[in-house]
Amino acid sequence: MHYYIITGASRGLGKALAEQLLLQPDTIVVGVSRHATIQHERYRHQPLDLSDMLAVQNNLFKVFPACPDAASITLINNAGVLGEVKYMGELPNEHFEFVFDVNVIAPAMLMNTFLATYQQHTGIPRTILNISSGAAQRPVDGWGAYCASKAALDALSAVAQKEQDLRGSGIRIRSLAPGVLDTAMQEHIRSADREQFSEAERFVGLKQDGALVSPAEAARQIVRWLQQPAQPQEPVVLRLADLSE
Ligand SMILES: NC(=O)c1ccc[n+]([C@@H]2O[C@H](COP(=O)([O-])OP(=O)(O)OC[C@H]3O[C@@H](n4cnc5c(N)ncnc54)[C@H](OP(=O)(O)O)[C@@H]3O)[C@@H](O)[C@H]2O)c1
Repeated sequence: MHYYIITGASRGLGKALAEQLLLQPDTIVVGVSRHATIQHERYRHQPLDLSDMLAVQNNLFKVFPACPDAASITLINNAGVLGEVKYMGELPNEHFEFVFDVNVIAPAMLMNTFLATYQQHTGIPRTILNISSGAAQRPVDGWGAYCASKAALDALSAVAQKEQDLRGSGIRIRSLAPGVLDTAMQEHIRSADREQFSEAERFVGLKQDGALVSPAEAARQIVRWLQQPAQPQEPVVLRLADLSE
């Protein structure tokens, strides 16, 4: 059986990834988010608010199944939040904690627990895919916490991969920027106050020009790439546009 644990599986890219994977036989998907929106005989839902660190710590053990029959095990840290789009100095301090909890602290704890739980499962492919953003690599005004949190996720991924390489575990860890997707997150971006976000019109234009990628298409490309053997020297931090089909 192929096991996939996907955070943020209730909508957007995470739901599309779960649905794409459930098309394949011998695949079990565990979805982790506040809402459950998928009904399938091979889908299991773990309700969890990834901004509630006490709940995360108390429920982490429920997220990872025992997988005695596993042919592969994959964690996809997909859940992410932008939070309020506002300049620093005009935000409540709690904003930074909220965005970092969902985008960095919870994924780090999930990575840590995945690596500990499945360290004995040598001989089968084990993969951690973190969904990052191009915003990790460039400053976007109004998105300070988001940019910094995704940069942190890229760095965590690179360190974790280096550690696994030094241990010779064979575990593959990647941080992937999926491009601009037609999801609720983009609706939130387009509705931002122009005074707090100089790129608002550009994002409105991308939607009007049909330049957003559907989550289903992004999921199809990601699943296809994930299930191929890793290319030699493949970088840890990648963009969807870089993936070989
Ligand atoms: N859309 C884009 O253009 C774009 C571009 C670059 C990167 N990304 C990244 O791609 C990933 C997916 O984005 P998306 O566009 O699909 O977002 P989305 O449509 O807003 O969906 C976000 C998902 O994350 C979950 N989530 C949010 N807050 C949560 C919380 N506190 N606890 C648990 N789950 C939570 C949501 O589930 P519940 O509400 O049910 O909890 C939902 O399933 C994110 O990491 C995002 O940063 C997106």
